[in-house]
Amino acid sequence: MAPTYSRGSCSGDASKEGVTFSIGTATASSSSTSPTTAAVASASPQNGTKAEAASALPDQGTGTAHIMAVKPISVTVTTSFQQTQTQSEFGEEKLRSNNKGSHKVILLSRHGESENNFSGKIGGDTNLSPRGRAYAAALASYINSLNIQCPVEVWTSGLKRTIATAAGVKCNQRKAMKELNELHAGCCEGMSYEEIQSEYPQEFAMRDQNKLTYKYPNGESYEDVLARVGPVIGNIEESILERRRDDDEEKVLLIVSHQAVLRCFLSHFLDIAESELPYIEVPLHTVIWLIQDEDTGKWSVSYVRLPVECVDTFRPKPQNCNLQRSESDALETVPTHY
Ligand code: F6P
Repeated sequence: MAPTYSRGSCSGDASKEGVTFSIGTATASSSSTSPTTAAVASASPQNGTKAEAASALPDQGTGTAHIMAVKPISVTVTTSFQQTQTQSEFGEEKLRSNNKGSHKVILLSRHGESENNFSGKIGGDTNLSPRGRAYAAALASYINSLNIQCPVEVWTSGLKRTIATAAGVKCNQRKAMKELNELHAGCCEGMSYEEIQSEYPQEFAMRDQNKLTYKYPNGESYEDVLARVGPVIGNIEESILERRRDDDEEKVLLIVSHQAVLRCFLSHFLDIAESELPYIEVPLHTVIWLIQDEDTGKWSVSYVRLPVECVDTFRPKPQNCNLQRSESDALETVPTHY
């Protein structure tokens, strides 16, 4: 059945909004070698045992420190790759010595919880919520205390929430790249899933039917995001190969981006089928370690949940994807928000 509204009539437009602002490159003055005072426990999603009790994190909103209860989440990986509990610990140890040798490390993180995340809205360019700012502080503490002995590069998207999230991480080079912006939801930018269902129920159902190829009106599909992120991934792989050839100095890359974009990274590096890509779990407030074994060339993954609470933004595929489904069927898997 045809959509009941004109796809060209909405206000959001990826071609106009998502990729047009200018992006700069900045170089920070110091490398990340100094341990920090605010200790942040790391938690394996599978056992959560390293993250005990509580952690003091500065509240950037008020300037006061407050205690956040550590509440490790259980990351249920819906895809076929395996995670082990020891990989990130192995990686941390490796970075403390240096990153040379037989393993390469890429660290991925979503931005901290944004104001839109908090209210269940997608897209936009809102600021971090207070908990998102606490995550930014926790991320800086965590990465800076790894005492990395080789140059660190931080890449963010061009959106405020990723730039703010990475701001406290000490690094040698910092880049904001529009290619790493979140999937642009076109006329649905800034709406909640409930509002999309209410206003554009058939679009909502069509997306559920094929999330990989579905393009929001005036916006993007996952295939579009794969296409724009592809050259960035190509650059990363090329530079890893070059360093291997030249025995050049290693560097560690921290990429702070968004749910859909990081799904593309995980799908590529972990060889996850594109059909599964739109449902890969990429929780907020979690550092994802990608570690490559040079012998096999294979990348493995490990999740480190930092102890700052946040909303869940993961909406699994609902059972009923028919265009005529009821509202409750359409909203069956929408995560709770505040
Ligand atoms: O909800 C957070 C968010 O990053 C939105 O901005 C974006 O539209 C969405 O996730 C992408 O996830 P999904 O494709 O599962 O809707």
